[in-house]
Amino acid sequence: MSLEEKIEHLKKLREQAKLGGGQKRIDAQHKKGKLTARERLDLLLDEGSFEEFDMFVKHRCRDFGLENERYLGDGVVTGCGTIDGRLVFVFSQDFTVFGGSLSETHAEKICKIMDQALKVGAPVIGLNDSGGARIQEGVESLGGYADIFLRNTLVSGVIPQISVILGPCAGGAVYSPAITDFIFMVKNTSYMFVTGPNVVKTVTHEDVTFEELGGPEVHSTKSGVSHFTCENEVETLNLVRKLFSFIPQNNMEDPPEIECNDPVDRADEDLNFIVPENPNKPYDIKEVIKRIVDNGDFLEVHQHYAPNIVVGFARLGGKSIGVVGNQPAVLAGVLDIDSGIKGARFVRFCDAFNIPLVTFVDVPGFLPGTAQEFGGIIKHGAKLLYAYCEATVPKLTVITRKAYGGAYDVMSSKHVKADVNYAWPTAEIAVMGPKGAVEIIFKKEIAESKDPEKAVEQKVEEFVEKFANPYIAAEKGYIDDVIEPKTTRPRLIRALSMLSNKRDSLPPKKHGNIPL
Ligand code: HXC
Repeated sequence: MSLEEKIEHLKKLREQAKLGGGQKRIDAQHKKGKLTARERLDLLLDEGSFEEFDMFVKHRCRDFGLENERYLGDGVVTGCGTIDGRLVFVFSQDFTVFGGSLSETHAEKICKIMDQALKVGAPVIGLNDSGGARIQEGVESLGGYADIFLRNTLVSGVIPQISVILGPCAGGAVYSPAITDFIFMVKNTSYMFVTGPNVVKTVTHEDVTFEELGGPEVHSTKSGVSHFTCENEVETLNLVRKLFSFIPQNNMEDPPEIECNDPVDRADEDLNFIVPENPNKPYDIKEVIKRIVDNGDFLEVHQHYAPNIVVGFARLGGKSIGVVGNQPAVLAGVLDIDSGIKGARFVRFCDAFNIPLVTFVDVPGFLPGTAQEFGGIIKHGAKLLYAYCEATVPKLTVITRKAYGGAYDVMSSKHVKADVNYAWPTAEIAVMGPKGAVEIIFKKEIAESKDPEKAVEQKVEEFVEKFANPYIAAEKGYIDDVIEPKTTRPRLIRALSMLSNKRDSLPPKKHGNIPL
């Protein structure tokens, strides 16, 4: 071959690789409303930034006729590129090649980019669209999965990992996304389950569709497996880019800071009137959050799961923050099993990746009942407590209204090493709600009274007057200041700036033993 012919040959191979399993299968992919592996990368990454590796890798299987079907790239496109100029490693499974199934070599390609990402400290984004283990390969494929799981675990907390599910993700394959930090799903075309509808029917005799068993609706509302659900693939990949803007490259770096065009001293008069006078009336904590953060831009995580707690990313004065807030508009903002798990996972992500935490507190306590106790509210509630205790990033807290009982301690109180704790004048910090409290401490008096209802009312009034305010906590220094609600944004920005050089660490240990 002449030099020219060699270059022509290379170009031809590249063209062939780009076709994956062939035009017919690409058309079939489009017909299902799905994009191809490469089209997805084009949307995810900055234009022209993608550097592909291992385009010429082929599988090594010699069974079931596979030796005659060897596609360049072996069903996964891997490499690196940039998002808003920042380096990221990616893999994108190609459903047109053996249904994106994972072979030994397919796994090796993914492991290679994960190893490189760890070496240079850059996030990994995986676009999943796969029929699972390459059935013809058997144990090599299983080994390949385990190699990925191991890396997912070892790089956890060192580099951010994001999983985007854009097709099937079934069997043990689900455990790679499960270990990563965030899972995105897309409506209509993505699903995740450990065992599919047929096996479910055989074992438990339940009739269930793919969608009902593991579609985005289920995982974003019931199981909490998925953090974000989008209408289509374009929206999904854009949202991944947005999430990326809030998080750092690795655990040694700070998140990117952007120029802030929202005045840092902006006061919001409406915040003074947002908490209703009746303490039993709800209001929307998301409204509070949006009025405080830069340009009202709040990227909510786990929007539809455990909505009694709200978590997500925003910025204050251009700096990334992780926001946690009890949501009085749902179940009065009570803490329960799901909200404990949701909050804890988010707090731990932020702490691992140097994202300061801002917590808004309006919590009446933990949800009572046998369902919660039998379900393990003790250990699941403890997760959130543990996560806050362990977090060494700057921790700012604003108590807007109720901070009752153990939930007061849990929600980034001074006692779990929060750095700056503010309360609004509407705050009520007490062991429990006034009615419950007087019914216990004045039980005898109330029982002996001629009009018990009136007696309770009177005692509640006394109790509220005495305890349902922020000043007892402020007197003891548990609250650093009682602030006018409208000044919350400037006060938080100043506190964040004061804490920008915060250094704190945990006692040396192999790892803690968070209640699981
Ligand atoms: C090899 C596979 C494959 C697989 C699909 N294909 N899954 N090849 N191994 N796991 C091939 C098909 O033969 C077909 O090839 C092409 O991919 C497209 O598949 P279709 O079935 O035509 O597509 P569709 O109708 O969209 O159905 C998608 C699907 C189905 C639901 C994913 O393919 C399916 O059920 N696949 C098997 C899923 C499975 O049981 N996987 C193993 C799970 S156990 P042609 O040549 O016709 O285009 C597992 C263990 C992991 O993953 C353990 C880790 C610890």
